[in-house]
Amino acid sequence: MMWTTIRTGPKNLIMSQHPASTVETNTILTGITTTGTPHLGNYVGAIRPAIEASQKPDINAYYFLADYHALIKCQDPAMVHQSSREIAATWLALGLNTDNVVFYRQSDVPEITQLMWFLSCVAAKGLMNRAHAYKDSVQKNQDAGEDQDYGITMGLFSYPVLMAADILIFNATRVPVGRDQIQHIEMARDIAQRFNHVYGEHFTLPEAVVDDHVAVLQGLDGRKMSKSYGNTIPLFLPEKQLRKHINKIKTNLLEPSEPKDPDTSTVFQIWRAFASKEQTAAMRREFENGIAWGEAKKQLFELIEAELREPRKRYNELLENPSHIEKLLSEGAEKARAVSIPFMARLNRAVGLHSLS
Ligand code: TRP
Repeated sequence: MMWTTIRTGPKNLIMSQHPASTVETNTILTGITTTGTPHLGNYVGAIRPAIEASQKPDINAYYFLADYHALIKCQDPAMVHQSSREIAATWLALGLNTDNVVFYRQSDVPEITQLMWFLSCVAAKGLMNRAHAYKDSVQKNQDAGEDQDYGITMGLFSYPVLMAADILIFNATRVPVGRDQIQHIEMARDIAQRFNHVYGEHFTLPEAVVDDHVAVLQGLDGRKMSKSYGNTIPLFLPEKQLRKHINKIKTNLLEPSEPKDPDTSTVFQIWRAFASKEQTAAMRREFENGIAWGEAKKQLFELIEAELREPRKRYNELLENPSHIEKLLSEGAEKARAVSIPFMARLNRAVGLHSLS
């Protein structure tokens, strides 16, 4: 897999592109927010590459369910609980190698929230004021003529500090994220530098890693597939529903046998994300030869179904057997805490919190 590393300095953003070295000496870490239902766009853009990476023997990685983060967006306890179960089952069903990566639930590692407080005490409030997510909320309030802080919790405001704690507790060096998260990694670096400046060198500065080689999938209406547009195809739809959703993908009115442009077609774009090189070239020719939309969609359904049938079966089995998920997560938590507990003890000492005798 090819990564693009986004190196960020405290003031300016420098982008440098280089392929990852073959020997992995880095600590990779990424969080999976446990809200919503994963869709094909999430799968192709984030889940599939992360799972492929988890199968590399030389990887040193932490993948975690960001359930503390879920509380920022969702205050329905049953839904928070159910989402964790579904998202854990999704990653396991798709073949996440939990022997190779440390896979855990954030809330099983209380050192993360302890560290968050230390970081809160060095993080500048002015830095948090500049966070995109917070600024967007303020802007919406202003546009609606509301008080600028209307509905904004401290959780939303300090979310970048929690994310910094997620990363710094394991001294992660590389953090695979979507482009929307780059700013948060910059903030984690900034906060880490402040802590190091005050208390000595405890933290490694993390880098955001954005994979430019994965597809950003289009949704049913041709815009980017996204929950906020309501145009998604959920990942583990039952077979019949999957077929129905694929049939809803927007096309134009060209008749069978009329040549079609693959490069402006959502059907083709999704095809390419699941197909081999040969299959992609073959479908391109089919488009030029005027394949009927119905036929193209039928083939697309079959291609996706072939990739997802087995994982969907495993997913349903896992949901029936949550104690297996729980067992893997607690093993993950144990591995994670073998690192976080001693590191937190060191940090407590560094800030002056330790035994008086
Ligand atoms: N905020 C990230 C997202 O919404 C998820 C996340 C939480 C994360 N903590 C993290 C990602 C730490 C990378 C590192 O996608």
